Amino acid sequence: MLWTAALIASSFVESALAAASQTYTWKNVVTGGGGGFTPGIVFNPSAKGVAYARTDIGGPYRLNSDDTWTPLLDWVNNTNWHDWGIDAIATDPVDTDRVYLAVGMYTIDWDPNDGSILRSTDQGDTWAETKLPFKVGGNMPGRGVGERLAVDPNDNSILYFGARSGHGLWKSTDYGETWSNVTSFTWTGTYVQDASSEYTADPVGIAWVTFDSTSGSSGSATPRIFVGVVDTGESVFVSEDAGETWSWVSGEPQYGFLPHKGVLSPAEKTLYISYSNGAGPYDGTNGTVHKYNISSGVWTDISPTSMASTYYGYGGLAVDLQVPGTVMVAALNCWWPDEIIFRSLDSGATWSPIWAWNGYPSIDYYYTYDISNAPWLQDDTSTDEFPVRVGWMVEALAIDPFDSNHWLYGTGETIYGGHDLLKWDTSHNVTLSSLAVGIEEMAVLGLITPPGGPALLSAVGDDGGFYHSSLDTAPSQAFHTPTDGTTNGIDYAGNQPANIVRSGANDDLPTVALSSSFGQSWYADYAASSSTGTGAVALSANADTILLVNSDGAFRSHSQATFAAVSSLPSGAVIASDKANNTFFYGGSGSAIYVSSDTATTFSKTTTLGSSTTVHAIRAHPSVAGDIWASTDTGLFHSTDFGASFTQIGSGCTEGWSFGFGKASTTGGYPVISGFFTVEGVTALFKTEDEGVNWEMISDAAHGFGAVASNVVNGDLQTYGRVFVGTNGRGIFYGVPSGTPPAATAVASSGSSSSSSTSASASASATTATGSKSTTLVTSTSAKTTATSTSTTSTKASSTTTGAASSATGTSTAYGQCGGGSYSGPTACPSGWTCTYENEFYSQCT
Ligand SMILES: *[C@@H]1O[C@H](CO)[C@@H](O)[C@H](O)[C@H]1NC(C)=O
Ligand SMILES: *[C@@H]1O[C@H](CO)[C@@H](O)[C@H](O)[C@H]1NC(C)=O
Ligand SMILES: *[C@@H]1O[C@H](CO)[C@@H](O)[C@H](O)[C@H]1NC(C)=O
Ligand SMILES: *[C@@H]1O[C@H](CO)[C@@H](O)[C@H](O)[C@H]1NC(C)=O
Ligand SMILES: *[C@@H]1O[C@H](CO)[C@@H](O)[C@H](O)[C@H]1NC(C)=O
Ligand SMILES: *[C@@H]1O[C@H](CO)[C@@H](O)[C@H](O)[C@H]1NC(C)=O
Repeated sequence: MLWTAALIASSFVESALAAASQTYTWKNVVTGGGGGFTPGIVFNPSAKGVAYARTDIGGPYRLNSDDTWTPLLDWVNNTNWHDWGIDAIATDPVDTDRVYLAVGMYTIDWDPNDGSILRSTDQGDTWAETKLPFKVGGNMPGRGVGERLAVDPNDNSILYFGARSGHGLWKSTDYGETWSNVTSFTWTGTYVQDASSEYTADPVGIAWVTFDSTSGSSGSATPRIFVGVVDTGESVFVSEDAGETWSWVSGEPQYGFLPHKGVLSPAEKTLYISYSNGAGPYDGTNGTVHKYNISSGVWTDISPTSMASTYYGYGGLAVDLQVPGTVMVAALNCWWPDEIIFRSLDSGATWSPIWAWNGYPSIDYYYTYDISNAPWLQDDTSTDEFPVRVGWMVEALAIDPFDSNHWLYGTGETIYGGHDLLKWDTSHNVTLSSLAVGIEEMAVLGLITPPGGPALLSAVGDDGGFYHSSLDTAPSQAFHTPTDGTTNGIDYAGNQPANIVRSGANDDLPTVALSSSFGQSWYADYAASSSTGTGAVALSANADTILLVNSDGAFRSHSQATFAAVSSLPSGAVIASDKANNTFFYGGSGSAIYVSSDTATTFSKTTTLGSSTTVHAIRAHPSVAGDIWASTDTGLFHSTDFGASFTQIGSGCTEGWSFGFGKASTTGGYPVISGFFTVEGVTALFKTEDEGVNWEMISDAAHGFGAVASNVVNGDLQTYGRVFVGTNGRGIFYGVPSGTPPAATAVASSGSSSSSSTSASASASATTATGSKSTTLVTSTSAKTTATSTSTTSTKASSTTTGAASSATGTSTAYGQCGGGSYSGPTACPSGWTCTYENEFYSQCT
């Protein structure tokens, strides 16, 4: 079979991969608020208006003068998907058009690739790459420390990069083109966040490199260089001879805290350092802010909150280069009642906060909250007594070196800032605006375009999902009531498309929600509970039956009766409902197809798909009963008999991932199929308008969409040609064609027939998906989901804690952590205190 398919493929070389008759214009579907973690923001100190933000899984952005951001690595495709993990960014203070990135996603085996330094001489429009001999971890623990990449302000051919994983300090003397390790710098950073899991057990390494620009003069290497290392012992080091020799900065306080930021105030000849007892980005319960007088060698504790009474460490740190002595620092995480940012006008002697208690439960808010760019950042039905607005995971904090009124900071969900910062010091009331327009950072898990409904419905990680009545305007609300952190699955009923089901985790309501208004309003489906696992969902054509596949297996609810296990469908199967016949559901697992003709009560294995070992996705024709397509690790298969038998599509298609149907160009024509496929050896986004005979590549050199296995694709059933691509960290794109639709081609039996008989070897059907490529990339998706920003919607009032099963015994402390994420400490609170769920990563004794 394989050989037959290959021969057919080669005979189609000329015709199958057609020259594109159309060009696609790609834009982001606007959500306007970022939607994920921004670990770093840097301003160029020498050129007004030059600034960059980095994200952990969605690449870097450049700031525009109108407060919007421009993405800089949208060309990243499946071959270099890991380049979207940005562990550090450096802007050149001398040649201000130069900018550098340290890229790579994971330093563990989730990412097989070594990292790179990317360098640009045009502010990020184009890039050159140097591969490093080790991995870089843009989405690893401690990704908000920094910046660990820096350009010498006196000789900008010199750069330093502080590696993770024990690889130490590296130096370039040719503008980042070649690198060598600095063998005289022997402190590689021994701290690991949690030795019990691979992801948290890798050393975070070096935190930051800060040149003392005042120690040298233009044209020769800066003599004094400070390096912060993620280590609970000695952690701040200095060279006085341009990196030849190094020593610990004596007198550094020894509390076992980790130095997150080291920021120079040149006019004061002072280094400001924020410390936390966790590497971040979710943790930190203790810490200090210190300053180091470089002239006198004196360290001073300038913490806004004393160590004795703090319950947070410190992250983001900024100085106003125009006003020496003006310093700002953020709690890394202050989960309750809200993040705190402090500002000092006297070099840290005294501080004022962005909010303060005024006799519990009254709070003075020293800001006006403005989320007009992304209204969904607050749930308008939330009844939280203490709404979280200032944020969490604040590692990036910066004051514009040319404008004391302009500041920006990154949170786990958006970028805030404003243009009236000096009001903090006068009326003590600044405007806190979400300023992330152009940053689209969500990890997308589902996209549907039910006929007659809105332009798009999305299911996303961390931010729930959206009813997009417009593709170019930020939604006013995320899906709510119930409000989910992550929406794992979404589907509509083919015959009654206003009926939608979604599955997602939340605090206390059932994890399944239903809508009969195309997703405009929702109600909880009490067929599920708050502890029903979330996952993929399929809704029967007449909307009476839901099939849910979560980590516990497959479950069915009919007429809103309690979900019951469906043992005949293997766990982990990909699923679909027939869009025209209410009784049929389909599953794929290993190489096998499973079909139910009794509204998902029972499934039978019908066939296996050629030589495939993994069914990646199953989709049902939007209006023809029994017309089913399946993408696999060996190509695309089509059934017209309700999944009883399948024919492999020839024409050189050798692998497929997510795909979907869009409106045909002609009345009555077959829907356009678009998705990520390998066709004639090229892995990209393709479409076919003739059931797989001819293919056109519709991604391009400027739009690569990252890892194919993590992406979600759907066509638009209402607008011919429009295609939606949901990425893992660069939000949702939509593409619109111009030009003439491809000429219709008569569809003969274009493929080779696969075994259509019911397989006798039922045991083979139990094989689960183990394709190494997809496993790796799918892991990266779930890593994002568990390891990036938290939900918007913590409900202070609810009092149960979810989070990782904890085997720890003992009692946490007042205001201490008691659950969430990978937390493994005690879950009990002291008498009189309640363990309160804040979000999926954090529960606290309050
Ligand atoms: C993917 O990106 C690489 C590197 O930029 C490029 O060489 C390759 O042609 C791209 N692949 C496709 C299918 O465009
Ligand atoms: C520096 O590089 C050399 C050569 O690759 C290697 O042997 C040595 O271990 C490296 N040292 C550090 C500190 O990484
Ligand atoms: C640093 O210490 C020197 C020597 O004691 C002192 O003159 C200077 O004012 C100090 N700098 C600051 C910013 O306090
Ligand atoms: C913070 O750490 C310091 C140094 O170990 C310790 O003295 C202090 O009690 C800690 N603070 C809290 C609130 O636990
Ligand atoms: C700051 O301004 C906002 C909006 O006008 C107001 O709600 C808030 O109370 C003000 N804060 C203080 C402390 O006056
Ligand atoms: C759906 O399929 C069943 C079983 O083949 C059949 O009896 C029924 O008529 C079909 N319904 C529709 C609406 O096609």
